[in-house]
Amino acid sequence: MTTEHHLVVITGANRGFGASAAHSYVAHSGAQKVSFVLVGRNQEGLQSVLDSLHSSKHQVQVKGTVVADVDLAQVDQLDENLLRIEEAISAIRADSLQSQVVTKSVLINNAGSLGDLSKTAKEFSWQETRAYMDFNVASFVGLTSTFIKGTQAAFPKEQFPNHKTVIVSISSLLAVQAFSNWGLYAAGKAARDRFLGVIALEEKDNNVKTLNYAPGPLDNEMQADVRRTLGDKEQLEIYDGMHKSGSLVKMDDSSRKLVLLLTKDTFESGAHIDFYDEEK
Ligand SMILES: NC(=O)c1ccc[n+]([C@@H]2O[C@H](COP(=O)([O-])OP(=O)(O)OC[C@H]3O[C@@H](n4cnc5c(N)ncnc54)[C@H](OP(=O)(O)O)[C@@H]3O)[C@@H](O)[C@H]2O)c1
Repeated sequence: MTTEHHLVVITGANRGFGASAAHSYVAHSGAQKVSFVLVGRNQEGLQSVLDSLHSSKHQVQVKGTVVADVDLAQVDQLDENLLRIEEAISAIRADSLQSQVVTKSVLINNAGSLGDLSKTAKEFSWQETRAYMDFNVASFVGLTSTFIKGTQAAFPKEQFPNHKTVIVSISSLLAVQAFSNWGLYAAGKAARDRFLGVIALEEKDNNVKTLNYAPGPLDNEMQADVRRTLGDKEQLEIYDGMHKSGSLVKMDDSSRKLVLLLTKDTFESGAHIDFYDEEK
């Protein structure tokens, strides 16, 4: 029986949902071996997440590396940073060819920002729009494309017909439904969703699947920022109420659902699936 060895790249893995997704991957993916590439700005935070994954009590062999000082908003440094990420991935792939070959390559595009939620759409300047899209869309496209090309070069389908590639965007309800004051965030998430929809079609014969996963309103720092900055009173009351009643979604519950979707692998490629969606 082949060992399931998954290579898992996560952006913004030092805290929040990214860190939670890494832990859930070890706990629920069913892989015997998981090799992580944790990407982000904060070396210490990434290393501490990797250390805690190493000491996980699950019967999973965990390996990994961090690629720190990667600011995905700085597109003038993007080529250099993509190269550093690709080198870290290549080292794991090369190593795996000597022993337990990578059977699945997963990219979780998790890092993201809110934009200024105090503003309505007509208040956004093109300059802040461009800066927002550089991080949330352009760097996402750059990393996704580099990852697919690198994976296909390393594991040509003629030689590795069973190797699977999965690209995830951590999405939002805002990708499919408009709410006031979320102009940049909604536009960015919608663009990412559609981009992965196109990849799903283009790569369907190449063992590549894509998934847009909306994790629900999470009980975390980003939600606290929403409550501090959102300009729309009606929504603010809803989020405040959810916070006070303890009904915000726990990060580990949501990341478990994501990993179980990936493990079951019955989702339609390119789909948008929300934490609250019924299992099909
Ligand atoms: N929180 C929610 O309720 C919610 C709901 C729906 C969707 N989401 C989505 O879930 C994903 C994760 O968000 P979260 O809730 O975990 O938010 P978070 O706690 O604010 O974490 C954001 C992550 O992105 C990283 N990041 C921010 N700016 C970056 C940059 N310029 N370059 C590289 N990394 C950067 C952060 O790293 P630093 O520590 O360096 O800042 C952090 O690791 C996001 O895509 C978000 O849109 C969240």
